Amino acid sequence: MIKEHLQGSCISIDAKSWSYQIEIRHGKYLVHRYFGKKLSGISELHQKRSFKKNYGTIHPDRTFNEFSFETELFELTSPGKGDYRIPLFNGRSSKGSSVFSFTYDSHEIMEGILDVHGLPGVYAEEGDSASTLKITCRDEDSGLYVHLYYGVLPEFDTLLRWCCFENRGTDPVSIERAMSFLLDTPEDNFDVLTLQGAYARERTAQRHRLTGGISSFSSLRGISSHHMQPFLGMLSPETGENSGSALGVLLVYSGNFLFEVEKTAYGTVRITSGIHNQGFSWLLEPGESFFTPQAVLVQSYEGLGGMTRSFHRLIRTRLCRTDHRDAQRPVLINNWEATYFDFTRNDLLELADEAHNVGIELFVLDDGWFTNRSDDTTGLGDWQEDRKKLSGGLQELSQDLLKRKLKMGLWVEPEMVSPGTQLMQEHPDWVLGYPEKELTMGRTQLVLDLAHPDVQQHLIDTFTRVFSSADISYVKWDMNRCIGEWRSAYLPPERQGEASHRYVLGLYRVMKELTERFPHILFEGCAGGGGRYDAGILAFMPQYWTSDNTDGVSRLFIQHGTSMVYPLSTMGSHVSEVPNHQVGRSTSLDFRLGVSMAGNFGCELDLRKLTKPEKQVLSKQISWYKRWRPVIQFGDMYRLKSPADGEDSSLMIVSPDKHKAVLFWYRRLHDASLLPPVIHLSGLDPSIRYLEERTGASALGDELMHRGFPVEEPEGDFSVRIYQFVQDENSASRKL
Ligand code: DGJ
Repeated sequence: MIKEHLQGSCISIDAKSWSYQIEIRHGKYLVHRYFGKKLSGISELHQKRSFKKNYGTIHPDRTFNEFSFETELFELTSPGKGDYRIPLFNGRSSKGSSVFSFTYDSHEIMEGILDVHGLPGVYAEEGDSASTLKITCRDEDSGLYVHLYYGVLPEFDTLLRWCCFENRGTDPVSIERAMSFLLDTPEDNFDVLTLQGAYARERTAQRHRLTGGISSFSSLRGISSHHMQPFLGMLSPETGENSGSALGVLLVYSGNFLFEVEKTAYGTVRITSGIHNQGFSWLLEPGESFFTPQAVLVQSYEGLGGMTRSFHRLIRTRLCRTDHRDAQRPVLINNWEATYFDFTRNDLLELADEAHNVGIELFVLDDGWFTNRSDDTTGLGDWQEDRKKLSGGLQELSQDLLKRKLKMGLWVEPEMVSPGTQLMQEHPDWVLGYPEKELTMGRTQLVLDLAHPDVQQHLIDTFTRVFSSADISYVKWDMNRCIGEWRSAYLPPERQGEASHRYVLGLYRVMKELTERFPHILFEGCAGGGGRYDAGILAFMPQYWTSDNTDGVSRLFIQHGTSMVYPLSTMGSHVSEVPNHQVGRSTSLDFRLGVSMAGNFGCELDLRKLTKPEKQVLSKQISWYKRWRPVIQFGDMYRLKSPADGEDSSLMIVSPDKHKAVLFWYRRLHDASLLPPVIHLSGLDPSIRYLEERTGASALGDELMHRGFPVEEPEGDFSVRIYQFVQDENSASRKL
């Protein structure tokens, strides 16, 4: 709820468990007043602690010196006016000035969540008590107006922040930095949580103490990247899984991004995030507006777990769209690791027969189905089916799959082009980079200039044709290289700084158009594994290929980190063969299945090579998964033990009504001297009696949570135990 107080000089935003307060000081300056545990009102008390006069203090206004831009907590900064902390905005007016003095102009409170023009974002549904505050500030000299947006979804404890810069002046303004929000805090005792990694090690959770100065976390790879997530957690040092304050900030953006945190000399902290300013600029002509991406702030007082569950519910139900948002996701097989580029139609149908026999529902034909694609050096861009590999083409294959009760999925990589292809010959200027210089290759491919509207339209037309060419129910949208050469032949020299952001806007346009044209298709994002697993893509595609690394041990860490923010329904999680193709490790089939079933399950292996008993295990596990997937994909997740805290790790998922729960427990390396583990469950209803179906054990929720549930003795290295709890209708069963 958003309310005005004290004759409109203060505004409060309230969610379920927190309040946010803004003050319009002296009718001019947007001061940040409070963000913390929910308050029942607002007082006239101004806290002057943020002002201390000294030789370093600069006053923005000649008429009074009881106020300093250096130390005050703000909602918006005015570059050049004495606030030396990280700014929200930097720019240059047509006169060459980099000084902008933004003062309060007006504000408006609106129902619902407004759209962020051209960019994806969280939305509200009917019945949500969502509202949006828009505060407008202006710089008199240039005529540049800044609209600060605050959207609140109280039930999700979520605040959405973004900005719009509008040129109401008569001359152009060059934007050189436009962050999505700024948050000042009056204290500085924080731990910082980031999700970092590399290819095949995406989103590993890292926590460290915030130190003085500026810490920054970013990507300049043109994609949100394997290396750093557009996410930052600001935690109280004592915050754990179940208690303490955790603020999570997630940027809904898929390109170059920047998070900065400044711990100042005055015991305050400033947090900001948005499009990375390196290499970025945007020429704003009179009458034009520029919107920043949306930042999602989730504040929890129930530890990291509380933050996670709010993010999961929000992303699942208020960010993801399409028909598939609330639908159970099919168990799929992907032929990539089974065949790579080397397959015939017959191979695929043999795999399909095996897939059907074990209960798989969808067959995904990965890379290599189109002409000139026997390796990764060529073919991208000429999207014609390879009739040599696929006699009868895609349509006949989709019919053959349907006869085996399998839906068909197809891999594509729309944003890329291989040298030597017809597309490259016809449109050499459709590639990003300087053609007169040697273009930088990544996986022997070049990047199409999605900043160019003709390229966007070409992709929309081409993939409309491809997706209509057969009975396709699923698409894996891949993107296999980072981008560096930000030069677009479409843009004039003075607008080259816009290329990276225009690429992302172009990508969103293409994705929006195609996902709307094919609402029945389930889209899964991918970028060389999980290189662009972010909220921007999830707004169009409700699931993502988590990582090419399918090794069970590696996946425990990757999935643990990913789960901090992203729901299990979004997390593509496949069982693969051993030795694992990425790390060469061998673990038991049970262990690999146990890890991959704690996500959106699929298979990525040559089923023909499995022994009969292995196929029986797989088939049994798939029927188990189908029964439990509503809980796994749409329940509330609780991390019970992190893989970083020893050889054992554990998580559980509880159905929203708390009547059902699944517990996953893993041991990597065994220790024969350890007592059998007892796990303290979470999220159950203390007064419900639960029956664990496999062991027949029965106990009340409070006992399972506080006294714990005894896990059976593990058998050795790479052990897994999965337990399923249902409400016990017959309390006569064996007690714990
Ligand atoms: C990278 C993906 O992560 C893999 O799963 C596979 O689709 C290959 N690309 C195909 O080129």
